Amino acid sequence: MNYQNIIAEKRGKVGWIALNRPKALNALCHDLIQELNQAINQFEDDTSIHVLVLTGSEKAFAAGADIREMKDRDYMDVYKADFITKGWQRVASCRKPVIAAVAGYALGGGCEIAMMCDIILAADTAKFGQPEINLGTIPGSGGTQRLTKIIGKSKAMEMCLSGRIMDAAEAEKCGLVSRVIAAADLLQETMKLAEKIAAMSLPVAMMVKESVNRSYETTLAEGLLFERRLFHSTFALQDQKEGMNAFVEKRPPQFKNI
Ligand code: CAA
Repeated sequence: MNYQNIIAEKRGKVGWIALNRPKALNALCHDLIQELNQAINQFEDDTSIHVLVLTGSEKAFAAGADIREMKDRDYMDVYKADFITKGWQRVASCRKPVIAAVAGYALGGGCEIAMMCDIILAADTAKFGQPEINLGTIPGSGGTQRLTKIIGKSKAMEMCLSGRIMDAAEAEKCGLVSRVIAAADLLQETMKLAEKIAAMSLPVAMMVKESVNRSYETTLAEGLLFERRLFHSTFALQDQKEGMNAFVEKRPPQFKNI
């Protein structure tokens, strides 16, 4: 996989994607988003890949949409092109689990793409924010929506209205990230978690993801019904028989992803 703005590689069952536009702090230009799409499509189609990791550099996960690229566009142009829609949503629509490993800046679109992932692991250097208001615009890829659902109205309002940047400790405290890790250990710890999830039955991991995400879209009663039906459907899998038999026989399960 030969890309200009990202590095994508298979590491066993893990599809590893590093945003790689260091001179612009991984600002999310059109070409980078196109390449990110291609890499996700490839890993999603590859049945040997169970989990995706999305990371950046030590200094920046991504400092947002590319300001130079968008600054002169006009309303009709962005409206007709449905700017920041096609391509940007690909991370959120990935059916396999996606872990974001964030060090340094995750601002604007960078914070939004991290929030599209299923788990965010943060280095102690991570900084999150929706500073679009400083540019005379607003978040365009879920910042006002996902951030509010995750950290609540008051904090989301403060972040989006003032452009304040929060550090990793605050991000963990308010539930934006699942864990803070020493920067030097971030990639190793991320790989450990990715490998642990990748060792599970892939269809079951996909059902877990689908079911947790359902809770964002529906009422509790509908969500519980959706979960129960998926739970029932796991009884059609060989992996459910294997997992439960392995427990009873006191041995590790050998999942076949069927
Ligand atoms: N777009 C384009 N280029 C960017 C960029 C961005 N979002 N962020 C940083 N860069 C470029 C800088 O222009 C600079 O390039 P040059 O060396 O060619 O001048 C290079 O990256 C390094 O940046 P700085 O010199 O500014 O580095 P710093 O360490 O002093 O500051 C920073 C780092 C605080 C992250 C600062 O770069 C910054 O504030 N960036 C913009 C953050 C932002 O506003 N993001 C929101 C974008 S809008 C958006 O994302 C909309 C949406 O919802 C999708």
